[in-house]
Amino acid sequence: MEFALLPTVNAALVAADALIVPMTSEGLSTTGQTLDAISIGALSATIKAANFEAKLGQTLAVYHLANISTPLVLIVGAGSPTEFNGRALQKMTASAYKALNTKTQHAYSFLTELMVSDRKTTEAISDIVRATLEASYRFDSFKSKKTSDTGLTHLTLVVGENFANSVGQAAVAWGESVALGLNYARDLGNLPPNICHPSYLAEQAHVLAKNHRKLSVNVLGEKDMEKLGMGAFLAVSKGSEQEGKLIVMEYNGGKKGDKPVVLVGKGVTFDTGGISIKPAAAMDEMKYDMCGAASVLGVIKALIAAKLPINVVGVIAAAENMPSGKATRPGDIVTTMSGQTVEILNTDAEGRLVLCDALTYIARYEPAVVIDIATLTGACVVALGKVVSGLFSPNDELANALTEAGQRSNDRAWRMPVWQDYQELLDSPFADMGNISNGGPYGGAITAACFLERFTKNYTWAHLDIAGTAWNSGTQKGATGRPVALLMHYLSSRVAS
Ligand code: BES
Ligand code: MN
Ligand code: ZN
Repeated sequence: MEFALLPTVNAALVAADALIVPMTSEGLSTTGQTLDAISIGALSATIKAANFEAKLGQTLAVYHLANISTPLVLIVGAGSPTEFNGRALQKMTASAYKALNTKTQHAYSFLTELMVSDRKTTEAISDIVRATLEASYRFDSFKSKKTSDTGLTHLTLVVGENFANSVGQAAVAWGESVALGLNYARDLGNLPPNICHPSYLAEQAHVLAKNHRKLSVNVLGEKDMEKLGMGAFLAVSKGSEQEGKLIVMEYNGGKKGDKPVVLVGKGVTFDTGGISIKPAAAMDEMKYDMCGAASVLGVIKALIAAKLPINVVGVIAAAENMPSGKATRPGDIVTTMSGQTVEILNTDAEGRLVLCDALTYIARYEPAVVIDIATLTGACVVALGKVVSGLFSPNDELANALTEAGQRSNDRAWRMPVWQDYQELLDSPFADMGNISNGGPYGGAITAACFLERFTKNYTWAHLDIAGTAWNSGTQKGATGRPVALLMHYLSSRVAS
């Protein structure tokens, strides 16, 4: 997809296939009004006849308007102008994209004409670019027949004098970088688990590092992890024919010596539950249990594209959780790299086991901040649904910064407690802790976070539980690429401040 910026344009004379024009519940935007005047009221008459209410995301395709050279004028509803924000703009962009047809190759978008209450125009430009690329995403590499519902290859944004320049171009580039990382994370999430296994993820890291001297990759295998004493990680990968991998990517975009942000992703490439096996229904969705890892790879890809001047270490704890004669049994006790012992009461609570050793390992980077990203608990989906990710951190400043980044990037997270009161639920009569709460399922997302907290005492840490947000089920089934956008916004905010 090619994006171009223009300061202004005579909308009636544009040589393109479509014009994308916003309309709020109060009426058409300036360009919409101009088009209406030039078509001698034909546009407003059509809008009226169609009883088009301009609800958010609603579209109306008007073909062959009198005196207008483009064959299609696509009106996109913005809803109430007082409630308009970046999220609405992204929704409008996606609906507009979907409403275009296969004949539309080149469209002009006037969506930035709206009052963007909580947004600067640069952010609006990034949002439109990102949302267009997200909407154009297809995962059809395993389909014999590829289909496409729009033919769009060029989008020209009409943005005004102040933004049709290098400032606007930087905003386009940012939107492209975020979308690139995000759609890459979706690809990885959508891949079937027979292809996307731990070694495949390691290979992806090597591919990213090729030709990029700012990125170096090191992959630890099970032998290396044995030497490090990663008993918890190995207890998970033990039941699988696939070797577990700890994948370490160092992106050195910042100054030498600047402490890195460390991202740790859960990369369980398939979660059967192990000996505590899951029910058969929808078990296929456990291929998405590596979406935390996918978001880390996505961020690294986006960082390279955006050339963000920051040091980031991306770590992936990649393993497959399978039942077998070699698998861990409920009741087994293992020693973690930290020296703390864990009684594995449920082999389906495997995410925290692979993560805890990764979280101990990364202390060697003396991180400025550590964020782990994991499809960790079904309980988080019960608590928050599929709208926001669960955010856990004992550190207010970090929690607030991540919340803010989620808001601005339309990839929101909601803070939950990681209080001492919950810690005793992890007590075990036989080891330092159990891997599940002895209080049953209540507060399961919180007790999982509390387990991780025991391994993060030496640095500033936050945990994102993306079990609800990393993928959609049903007709929209597929990986969402969340929280790549949140993380990219957080990282860019660190560069700016
Ligand atoms: N990968 C799952 C969490 C999950 C469940 C993500 C459903 C998305 C949808 C995780 O490994 C798991 O199985 N967690 C258990 C923990 C329990 C055994 C304490 C869960 O949530 O049931
Ligand atoms: Mn599990
Ligand atoms: Zn899992």
